[in-house]
Amino acid sequence: MPTTQLLEATPEAVETAAGLLREGQLVAIPTETVYGLAADAGSDDAVARIYSAKGRPAFNPLIAHVANLDMAQRYAVFPNAAITLAQAFWPGPLTLVLPIRDGAPLSPLTTAGLATVGIRVPDHPLSQQVLRHFGGALAAPSANPSGRISPTTPDHVLDGLNGRIAAVIDGGSCGVGVESTIVAVDEENRLRLLRPGGISADDIFQTTGLTPVANASDAGIEAPGQMTSHYAPRGTMRLNADTCEPGEVLLGFGDVECTLNLSRSANLAEAAANLFRMMHRLDADGATRIAVSPIPESGIGIAINDRLKRAAAPRD
Ligand code: TXA
Ligand code: MG
Repeated sequence: MPTTQLLEATPEAVETAAGLLREGQLVAIPTETVYGLAADAGSDDAVARIYSAKGRPAFNPLIAHVANLDMAQRYAVFPNAAITLAQAFWPGPLTLVLPIRDGAPLSPLTTAGLATVGIRVPDHPLSQQVLRHFGGALAAPSANPSGRISPTTPDHVLDGLNGRIAAVIDGGSCGVGVESTIVAVDEENRLRLLRPGGISADDIFQTTGLTPVANASDAGIEAPGQMTSHYAPRGTMRLNADTCEPGEVLLGFGDVECTLNLSRSANLAEAAANLFRMMHRLDADGATRIAVSPIPESGIGIAINDRLKRAAAPRD
């Protein structure tokens, strides 16, 4: 494949991207969480390209991105609790795992052959415009090689996938910085939290009165965010570090002496937005041993700690 086009955020870029997607090509698009590697969710060939560009294990289902709730209802069955969640949090960083609607135009490669589909409405003007021009669902995992750090800038996308995808639209840095929260809703209106993310279980309860239960650990891999080693930099990571040992760099949080600081004012939203960018920076600088300050386990801090634990996990 020729080198990947970097498209400036213009109306023409949106047209170009939608055209490439219609041809079955891959285009990385900015969302409010991380950059997504988009392909036509209805096309086996297009979705197969995602798996090969990322080197992704074929049993991991992808998220179908749509422009709004109406469009989502063409693909999935919405129990009442799912309607409540969609109305409260869409567009935004919440993915709902729902039963597939009969006859929905989704490739089985998008859903990895499951009877459910993960679906979300991203809150980013460029992904919204691409979805509207394209007019159908776009399958889009994070735009990084499988198992590596998720991308929050177009440079991160190109670092991992240059030459393997047709284009990336430049939307600058992603505002939320960690992937969407994933909640499964079954036909009895029960909620299960499959992956912590930009919206916490507490936010869900405060806004809707609904309570997601944590996912049972014997449920197998339902979300690759649940694979033990994921989001990994090349160096090793040591968590909850108050100080640096010799040979380590410190990724700090709050008022500490450190190499890079996720948020000097101890603001968790700022730390989430900085997390993957700073991990990419340390990786690019060749850091071999990374210590990380303790991060409070509340709100989006839960998602940050989840990603850090996976980045620190032993690798194969
Ligand atoms: O914020 C995000 O969610 C980003 C942006 C690009 O939208 N996307 C993202 O996609 O993080 P990905 O592929 O890296 O993670 C998708 C997650 C996986 O953990 C997958 O297992 C889960 O969604 N998933 C998708 N469909 C599912 C289903 N039917 N059942 C259970 N989990 C599902
Ligand atoms: Mg990912």
